[in-house]
Amino acid sequence: MNYAIGNENEKWVREIYEKIKTKMSAECDRTGDKIPYTTVDGKFDDKSVNDLDWWTNGFWPGILWQMYHATGEEKYMTAARGVEEKLDKCLEDFTGLHHDVGFMWLHSAVADYRLTGNEKSRVRGLHAASTLAGRFNPAGKFIPAWNGEDRIGWIIIDCMMNIPILYWASDELKDPRFAMIARAQADKELEMSIRPDGSSNHICCLDPMTGEMLDNPGGQGYESGSSWSRGQAWALYGFALSYRHTGDQKYLDAAKRVAHYFIANLVRSDFLPLCDFRQPSEPVYYDSTAGACAACGFLEIAEHVGELEKPLYVDAAMRVLKAMEEKWCDWDPERDSILQMGNEAYHREEGRHISIIYGDYFFIEAILRLVEKDFLIW
Ligand code: GLY
Repeated sequence: MNYAIGNENEKWVREIYEKIKTKMSAECDRTGDKIPYTTVDGKFDDKSVNDLDWWTNGFWPGILWQMYHATGEEKYMTAARGVEEKLDKCLEDFTGLHHDVGFMWLHSAVADYRLTGNEKSRVRGLHAASTLAGRFNPAGKFIPAWNGEDRIGWIIIDCMMNIPILYWASDELKDPRFAMIARAQADKELEMSIRPDGSSNHICCLDPMTGEMLDNPGGQGYESGSSWSRGQAWALYGFALSYRHTGDQKYLDAAKRVAHYFIANLVRSDFLPLCDFRQPSEPVYYDSTAGACAACGFLEIAEHVGELEKPLYVDAAMRVLKAMEEKWCDWDPERDSILQMGNEAYHREEGRHISIIYGDYFFIEAILRLVEKDFLIW
């Protein structure tokens, strides 16, 4: 879609797109079908060695499919296919799987199937979607995020980004059951996680028999009742995507409520997203991944609102992308990863202000949207 960003911004996004192409071409040559998560001394690690069911393992193939779609260069497809095949072992082993099968297979197999028609990829995507649907708790009406008896009633706002694989499966099979489960989860998150001011809980611990709230610990944010920025970004983009797939106005209204809260918090930190919008004023911890995901969410909302409302969301996306690019992007093609200053969790020192693969994924997706070369993976 043409977001009508004006000449100056258009020049900027075209320049950034050229830098992305240079950097990703070098990264693809070096990394191939390894599965990076973060960097050590400017070099990607490889989760395929001993962490194959790690939740972020779809983002590298997601980047590769975006680049294949944008440039047509076969090397991206070859590398992405290699990752997709490696991930088969997770489907076979099954017991390590969690709700993040959406992130893992939407970006790998489903992207492959939608771009190339590869039948084997379709089966992988349906297998992953069935696994997610199989987690559904019909008594409590929710999808538990993780495994283990003590977390059987835990939902997390991140799941809003996993349920698009259920909408895809329903479309693919012409079977409404998957989408019904996705909507039940979105409704539960809306009821339990989204607060009246547009902020969000990260974790809600629910009674597995009734779906009622028992507790809401702080999760990856500062503390219970605070406002973990990546969780707000998952909510913002996730509800906008649920609106795209269902047309249900309450999801768009929720996405807008979270977006307005997010924008208000970006304004007070020069559009560089804090790790938690309610963290203490010192020390200052940031999270670039929240900004990159939110930028995609703002652009998604802009696609579903009227002309008068659109500039608010497009402007927010441009401001956060430009602010982060100025301070936090590494364009050296000899070094892996573009966007620095990601943050795993407020209290996790070893994961603070590092590069994280989904920061790059969302940054690239946002720029590709702005140059009208994106492929909607979700
Ligand atoms: N989904 C886990 C995280 O955002 O860190």
